[in-house]
Amino acid sequence: MKFFVDTAELDEIKALLSSNLIDGVTTNPSLIAKSGKNIKDTISNICKIVKGPVSAEVTSTETEGMIEEGKVLYSIASNVIVKLPLTWNGLEACNRLSNEKIPTNVTLCFSAAQALLAAKAGATYVSPFIGRLDDSGIDGVELISQIRVIYDNYQDLDTKILAASIRNTNHVIQVSMLGADVATVPPKILKDLVKHPLTDIGLENFLSDWQKTGQKIN
Ligand code: G3P
Repeated sequence: MKFFVDTAELDEIKALLSSNLIDGVTTNPSLIAKSGKNIKDTISNICKIVKGPVSAEVTSTETEGMIEEGKVLYSIASNVIVKLPLTWNGLEACNRLSNEKIPTNVTLCFSAAQALLAAKAGATYVSPFIGRLDDSGIDGVELISQIRVIYDNYQDLDTKILAASIRNTNHVIQVSMLGADVATVPPKILKDLVKHPLTDIGLENFLSDWQKTGQKIN
């Protein structure tokens, strides 16, 4: 499974790059707003340090506007993925951009029916928001399972499932068990994945026993 980091903060991305665990980045208008930076500069700077897919979201809600903005965003760098909302206009824009070989990420997906339409529209990625479904009392992980079954039924549906709105490490494990192609994870949760108290205790005990030997490895 690929790991994308869900942030528009360049420093957060830089801090994670040395782990070599980051396969891409996703942003959205709220993350750009939170960064306080210009979207084109931000996406350009991210694409300079991340070679994998970098999602940048349009803000128009009209088809022609989405296509125009999508082409502006895609002109920033060849690894830009144009993010489009899962609306009729977004699906039309997705189809037209995909026909021009511009990669797309159809976002704000909350149902299997929506995901089926995104695949039919030629989306490169679909982003089911599992955390926001959980927040509303609906099982978000179940949506990943449904989409995986549907997509695997048809050879011609090659849209990748990009599990988004990840709230905890359990979400990451659950979506990977269900066959999501990608999880886009906030930086803090990515770092939480490595943590386990028994690892800390075990390492402390190893080092304590080792110290008693008086040895050094050099
Ligand atoms: O960026 C897309 C998605 O990951 C947003 O998640 O936490 O705003 O529901 P969240």
